[in-house]
Amino acid sequence: MKRIGILTSGGDCQALNAAMRGLVKCLDVSGENIEIYGFIDGYKGLIYGDFKMLTGHDFSGILTKGGTILGTSRTPFKTIREPDEDGLDKVEAMKQNYYKLKLDVIVILGGNGTHKTANLLREEGLNVVTLPKTIDNDLWGTDMTFGFQSAVDIATEAIDCIHTTAASHGRIFIVEIMGHKVGWLPLNAGMAGGADIILIPEIPYDIDKVVEAIQGRDKRGSKFTIMAVAEGAISKEDAALSKKDLRKKQENSPYPSVSYEIAARIQEKTGKEVRVTVPGHTQRGGSPCPYDRVFATRLGAEAGKLILNGEYGFMVGYKNREIVKVPLDDVAGKLKTLSPDATIIKEAKMIGISFGD
Ligand code: F6P
Repeated sequence: MKRIGILTSGGDCQALNAAMRGLVKCLDVSGENIEIYGFIDGYKGLIYGDFKMLTGHDFSGILTKGGTILGTSRTPFKTIREPDEDGLDKVEAMKQNYYKLKLDVIVILGGNGTHKTANLLREEGLNVVTLPKTIDNDLWGTDMTFGFQSAVDIATEAIDCIHTTAASHGRIFIVEIMGHKVGWLPLNAGMAGGADIILIPEIPYDIDKVVEAIQGRDKRGSKFTIMAVAEGAISKEDAALSKKDLRKKQENSPYPSVSYEIAARIQEKTGKEVRVTVPGHTQRGGSPCPYDRVFATRLGAEAGKLILNGEYGFMVGYKNREIVKVPLDDVAGKLKTLSPDATIIKEAKMIGISFGD
């Protein structure tokens, strides 16, 4: 008999359900006697003992369903050691609930912040297995996270739709793309959507270079320009500021996001109309794409295998086209950024895409 806890934590994404389904199906098929405890709304459920008993049946028919059947929430790692408003020690509470339910393992699906807490629980002696979810694809130790490809599809579609209206009006369009502090999603959606300029956090932009790229297109007879701008894009000047000064500047900014600031500066320098589109959370929503369904199912099944073998303390990741187990200690606290020298960026530049540098 194995008693297995499951929780999904942090911002949701597509294929969380597909991954949990893969895990539970693998355990079911193995013939092992299992009890499943689904914690509600992420670590909150584990802290406050909010869970429901689930069976294989609960994981049936959810392969294509977006979101998470368990619910999720953000429980910042930064304050995990601080008592809650009632003085409860959150880490101790999670441990006590784990022991009270006599769990053999807790399976945690999440991104960067989630992995820091997962590793902390491992250090505190709990058996933990994790699965890498996030549309940002910024998790260390895995080449790919589930949710990413689905988000690329949605962001690409947003850029595709903008293309036709940009062409009709001869305007400059900015599509702001999620991805937090890294450029994987904006770069891939930007390239897939045929963006002319892609701005990502890893390559701070020079607004004059951006304007040069737009004017170059004008000279070559292109009436419009499409820009894919990362929500975390940063100018060269801002990148040179201290963290504190940058935060102050952002807090006092009259613009709702970086794209609006870039739009204003382009308009000022070129006198051309600029429009901003923000697909926002649509990028995290809806049904997972076929790639993510397969990928998340594979990861879930491999997590099941680890549990059946009693191998704990790992994230199931993907490296060089193979599913691998990565020690949680190697994953926690590290961000997987894009190198400005990455081959894909060189190739994008070879076909004339400007990164504003
Ligand atoms: O990490 C996933 C993500 O969608 C990021 O791309 C984005 O910056 C952030 O979450 C948005 O967070 P929230 O849903 O809390 O607004």
